[in-house]
Amino acid sequence: MKGKQHPRNDVSLNPSTSRDIHAVVDAVDPARRRFVGGGLGAAALASAGGLTLGGLVDSVEARPLGRPAAADGGLPGIGFTSVPPSLAPVADRVTVPAGYTARAFVAWGDPIMPGGPAFAGDARESAAEQALQFGMHNDGMHFFPFPRRDGRENPEHGLLCVNNEYTHEEVLHPDGLVGAGYTLAKTRKSQAAHGVSIVEAARVRGQWRVVRRSPFGRRITANTFMRISGPAAGHALLKTREFTITDAATTPTGGTTDGTVAYGTINNCAHGWTPWGTYLTCEENWNGNFGATGALDTTTATETAKLNRRYGLSTSGNGYRWHTTDPRFDLSTNPNEPHLFGWVVEIDPFRPDSTPVKRTMLGRFKHESVQHVVDDDHRIAFYMGDDERNEYIYKFVAKRRYNPALRAANRNLLDEGTLYVARFDSDLTGVWIALAPDTVGIDGVKLRDNPNFAGADDAEVQAKILIKTRMAADAVGATMMDRPEWTGARPRIGGFEEIEVYCTLTNNNRRGTSTASSNAADGSTAAGSARPPVDAANPREDNVYGHIIRWREAGRSVAATRFAWDLFVQAGDSATTKTAKPSNDYRGNIADDPNGSADYGAPDGLWFDPFGRLWVQTDQAGNAQGDWVHIGANCMVCADPATGATRRFLTAPPNAEVTGVTMTPDGRTMFVGVQHPGEDSSAANPTQYSNWPQSQWSVESDGVTPLPGGRPRSTVVVITKDDGGIIGT
Ligand code: FEO
Ligand code: CA
Ligand code: CA
Repeated sequence: MKGKQHPRNDVSLNPSTSRDIHAVVDAVDPARRRFVGGGLGAAALASAGGLTLGGLVDSVEARPLGRPAAADGGLPGIGFTSVPPSLAPVADRVTVPAGYTARAFVAWGDPIMPGGPAFAGDARESAAEQALQFGMHNDGMHFFPFPRRDGRENPEHGLLCVNNEYTHEEVLHPDGLVGAGYTLAKTRKSQAAHGVSIVEAARVRGQWRVVRRSPFGRRITANTFMRISGPAAGHALLKTREFTITDAATTPTGGTTDGTVAYGTINNCAHGWTPWGTYLTCEENWNGNFGATGALDTTTATETAKLNRRYGLSTSGNGYRWHTTDPRFDLSTNPNEPHLFGWVVEIDPFRPDSTPVKRTMLGRFKHESVQHVVDDDHRIAFYMGDDERNEYIYKFVAKRRYNPALRAANRNLLDEGTLYVARFDSDLTGVWIALAPDTVGIDGVKLRDNPNFAGADDAEVQAKILIKTRMAADAVGATMMDRPEWTGARPRIGGFEEIEVYCTLTNNNRRGTSTASSNAADGSTAAGSARPPVDAANPREDNVYGHIIRWREAGRSVAATRFAWDLFVQAGDSATTKTAKPSNDYRGNIADDPNGSADYGAPDGLWFDPFGRLWVQTDQAGNAQGDWVHIGANCMVCADPATGATRRFLTAPPNAEVTGVTMTPDGRTMFVGVQHPGEDSSAANPTQYSNWPQSQWSVESDGVTPLPGGRPRSTVVVITKDDGGIIGT
């Protein structure tokens, strides 16, 4: 997620400061930022609420490097040799280890449903044609296998649900964003390239192919009709101008919506899935697609102005021009429309005619990813990050239990429950703070009595808390994090029973650089002033390379309100020449052998495969310059969560990030997303930085579909092992 139409999420919109307790980072030495550290950490955990300490030192997970698979019940472990970093000048290709083959499975513009035309190559497609093709700039994804006749999952046939996060307008249109002028047709094509693509994937005679005319093939775009559900549905803040939307115009009907409907999903970054077989897509930098043709109030104390400020709405957004041709995205005349975005959207991929649902109970922010855990009591929780500097980590715990026997019983499980935000304390414990009317804020005022959330009754208070999730989290003193990206839950296999969740914290360079601003419990502090001190959970004042935090729920319950945490790794460049700061060793502590062989930074995508191995994908500058001269281009690494041992599995082409990864249930096929190859190129020279994937292959993985050159295309790569084995071994 970068490029002209996307911020680097490096503008802080959180005006809060962190709690005093977090200023005591020096009280926690680096050695004790680990679960296995014991000492004070262990004692503190024991007093914090019954955490089982035995599990903290006895973890059994992915097979240690070099140990035979049979030694621990068949967990496949990590067996490949690291690929070298892709140093400047970055080769225009994807590399994978010896013994593996990568091919282009589906790329921007490929037809995925009946009537979809083949990719033209020169971006001449209309909006209507784009709406039948794979969207642009793919991100998070999940493979849903079809059942076989015997009821087991088919590892060679399923639905690949893929987010299409954003568009590069210079490459999307033949003449770029401006060119011969900006038109509604451009807006409509851009809207059609956003959202979600559902692709039927089948392996035929060994080759993976897109089923081009699949009845399951589907595009969900910025204009797809959706329902809004949960506590905020119907609230006045979600009532907007009503429009009739066609290719030719967005026409006001003169009416107002009832707050239970919305059109479209945008900036779908990472994702999640549910055990009842639905896909969850997360709306991240949706604020950037809005603009204003008139003045925009961000300065007063009105409800709208506060929300605009806290969520980063502006007159020009991220440079899109939708608002100039589509009044739905014009904040001057339709100020409540942004409140319909920033949610998690649930989609049933097996019912192509189903209406996606925006689930307000999971909160409204810049959702990165939403990963679930089911505990032994059938309780289910979803873990989520808000990706912006100094924003927060959340979890939603459903009120009702997950019913594995009856799919329909889970249909609205995401509508009732409790949304929590995380506070990471310096003693390596943490607290989940409920964002509920009764919760007392750091100002001593219950949320129901905080003017930001005041309502006619607690139902309205809860609705406002959800629409203004960030402000509620401010009020209760959540810990400001170094840009929370993906979350991932370690599988409870191989003797490992803990509920352990990981979150990438990709970077942050605004800590400890000046006096901290005052807390914004009342939502009144000016934007961009957040400069929290370093704290135990975010210990670097200049966190160029990022880190990965993890936590374990007390009592192995997803409903726990206490947890233990540590830092899994601090990423870095072991060959750096940057001068260390007191809190800042730029070298990191990646456990690779030889040292430096799997260095990486800016961790973003994070995913546990079913065998317990942790895959981490990066989003840094893609030209291998500056801070990245030794680390090279973006990459994907694989790590053993028990030992931290890490190897580099894949490197990306120039100016691309690696984002999105999933496997077939047999582990023998992996899909990996490569986003925005050659980003920042202009319409006049689209291949200035990259002509990938055509630069690497002449045809897609089906062996038939040509890969035209002429412009770089975000692509899902399919990876198999040449001996047919499990990926990563
Ligand atoms: Fe879209 Fe936070 O990455
Ligand atoms: Ca290292
Ligand atoms: Ca991301």
